[in-house]
Amino acid sequence: MTGRPDVADRATAGFSHGYDATPAGRWAAPGRVNLIGEHTDYNDGFVLPFALPLRTVVAADPQPGERWTVRSEIADRPVDFGAADADTPGRVTGWGGYVAGVVWALREAGYAVPGARLAVASDVPLGSGLSSSAALEAAVLAALADLGGLDLPAERRPRLAQRAENGYVGAPTGIMDQSAVIRCRAGHALFLDCRDESVDHVPFDLDAVGLAILVIDSRAPHRHADGEYASRRAACERAADLLGVPALRDVPVADLDAALGRLPDDETRRRVRHVVTENQRVLDTVALLRAGRVAEIGPLLTASHASMRDDFAITVPEVDTAVEAALAAGALGARMTGGGFGGCVLALVEASAAEPVAAAVRSAYAGRGFAAPDTLTALPASGATRLP
Ligand code: GLA
Repeated sequence: MTGRPDVADRATAGFSHGYDATPAGRWAAPGRVNLIGEHTDYNDGFVLPFALPLRTVVAADPQPGERWTVRSEIADRPVDFGAADADTPGRVTGWGGYVAGVVWALREAGYAVPGARLAVASDVPLGSGLSSSAALEAAVLAALADLGGLDLPAERRPRLAQRAENGYVGAPTGIMDQSAVIRCRAGHALFLDCRDESVDHVPFDLDAVGLAILVIDSRAPHRHADGEYASRRAACERAADLLGVPALRDVPVADLDAALGRLPDDETRRRVRHVVTENQRVLDTVALLRAGRVAEIGPLLTASHASMRDDFAITVPEVDTAVEAALAAGALGARMTGGGFGGCVLALVEASAAEPVAAAVRSAYAGRGFAAPDTLTALPASGATRLP
């Protein structure tokens, strides 16, 4: 990222070059990492993400009629679509599908969406599990809502952005990513109850306690991630049916053994054990953060990773290597973050250890012949916003 012009300036420049005009405004939404609570969101459970300082920016102005034109710095040609395309899920494909999906979700919910010209620039890496798609959806949603004067409070936006992804793009994801990129606050992690979408902003001031979160992009190729995600989700829903509960959220950790005894096979038992114990780890993490005992969350992060590796079976050698190397180099805790099968690892470290831990991971990667991982240290940033 070093040396690149500021992302907001790039969005403005993309707009000016593309449309020979000045945008009416610019809207930004961040990427996110999830501190803990993986594959719990679609089980009506708990998650604890925070927003990254890396952002996607959309520069936009209204255009007459029901027409949307989108330029992106990653594409040579604009994507252009009208109401018929927006109203047919899946018709606009690729990155433009996230934009069309937002238009679709808003129209489906009864909003009069203004036609618009948009230009997108982003510092959120694509395909790294940092929610670049949610950042794009949230920035576009904010732009269209403001341009059209839509009555759309922030609490309603995550569901609409998720609708775009589920209903238009066709990815069966939960509510975490869109909630994080819209509702997070700087210096805080977002404790979200995915059943009723209530939130609590939990102070997570790493600087003040001399700690840092190191984010390591495993650079593992996504191996069948979409199909595996859908199959994990289906397994959880089947298990909830078998247990006679609306969602696995309704199995308290104290009842876990009894619940496991009622399940037919080892694989289902392991999937359920992950979700139930992971929900409890989120609650325990929140309790420690509220008590100011930040360094003590490390073992919970590491336990979460073991659960994803052994019970939910969603890790790959690259992420396991990054976690092991970070812990061996003194990280207080480490885990994969996001949907799995690649993506990023986060490690909680003493601030002064961030670089040595990153170096240890790079060296472990080199030893195994993996492509060198990218790293960044992340302080919790704020959610989607209009830029001045
Ligand atoms: C992806 C999905 C989220 C969530 C995570 C796993 O990021 O988009 O909804 O399910 O995986 O926690």
